[in-house]
Amino acid sequence: MKVLEVRERFGLDQLLQGERPDPQPGPGQVLLHMHAASLNYRDLLTVQGQYNPKQPLPLIPCSDGVGEVAAIGQGVERVGVGDLVTPIFAQRWIAGEPTQTRLRSTLGGPHDGTLAQQMVVDAESVVRAPKHLTHEEAATLPCAALTAWSALVSLGSVKAGDIVLVQGTGGVSIFALQFALLLGARVIVTSSSDAKLERVRALGAWETVNYRTQPDWGREVKKLSGGAGVDLIVEVGGSLTLPQSLAAIRPGGMIALIGVLSGRTGDLNLAPILMQQIRVQGVFVGSRERFEAMNRAIEQHRLRPAVSRIFPWEEARPAFEHLASGEHFGKICIRVD
Ligand SMILES: NC(=O)c1ccc[n+]([C@@H]2O[C@H](COP(=O)([O-])OP(=O)(O)OC[C@H]3O[C@@H](n4cnc5c(N)ncnc54)[C@H](OP(=O)(O)O)[C@@H]3O)[C@@H](O)[C@H]2O)c1
Repeated sequence: MKVLEVRERFGLDQLLQGERPDPQPGPGQVLLHMHAASLNYRDLLTVQGQYNPKQPLPLIPCSDGVGEVAAIGQGVERVGVGDLVTPIFAQRWIAGEPTQTRLRSTLGGPHDGTLAQQMVVDAESVVRAPKHLTHEEAATLPCAALTAWSALVSLGSVKAGDIVLVQGTGGVSIFALQFALLLGARVIVTSSSDAKLERVRALGAWETVNYRTQPDWGREVKKLSGGAGVDLIVEVGGSLTLPQSLAAIRPGGMIALIGVLSGRTGDLNLAPILMQQIRVQGVFVGSRERFEAMNRAIEQHRLRPAVSRIFPWEEARPAFEHLASGEHFGKICIRVD
């Protein structure tokens, strides 16, 4: 089978096509014929050697994708041949709390990922794709969508009437906007681009702020919320955006710490966190159980992921470069079949 792999050294120019033996499913496993994969910021860092410099090579990158069950191993009853499924991000996190073992069972590093014509995974570690979605749309769900769902629903308990602040217009953030709207929340979105802010308004955003032209956007967001502050923040920026988030959040509100795009260390005044009883909640994707709950909501509301651009297999490197450029809105996909 054809794969894309980082073979001997890290770097986008080291993402090479290779051949591997066709895998066979063992007992309890399924063979997937992959149709599409989808990129996350983590995949870019992984290929560049910045996510885990100790990652053994070769590695097939990318955690997210969708494929058809082509064969099942002995004892498999959860899915059948012909089902369209997505492998879950953390293969051993089926339900319950995160553990070290569960958190280390992720695709696209340390385990081989979805940029392959075929994959063998445990039947317990896949979920059925929502029926109304295209292959590319379904491929976007395992990491970005589930992270947004975990932040808003599983850990954040957002409810109708709440005000949610979403930073940026990348994969996680657009899912967070869509889920927050589905829950009946009002959503404020920040972006570096006025054109992207127009697009989020068309999707239903309540208010928007350009964080580039308004570097102290925290106060502006608080004002837009009516002065009380927002209930929940989808924090993808990290060290440089956290002080602004602390200015925008209401007392008792929650900051869902998801990404560190602007940096992971820095000076931070911790006092507001305790004086205003703010909850800073780390989020790491989620379990299969949450994924299945999310898919039920996606099907019920016929929600469609925002796919920014689809690249053919031969243009995997330009797809990663497009992600690095930050020009995208929502998700970038790669066609596998
Ligand atoms: N913890 C987890 O489980 C988890 C899961 C998924 C992703 N993540 C992390 O979450 C972050 C986003 O991932 P993604 O895949 O959604 O990335 P992405 O699709 O590449 O989105 C990045 C977007 O974030 C916005 N952005 C960049 N720098 C920013 C800053 N300093 N302040 C505010 N917004 C900024 C930009 O939006 P505009 O172009 O609109 O300005 C950019 O397009 C990454 O750090 C990723 O590693 C974590």
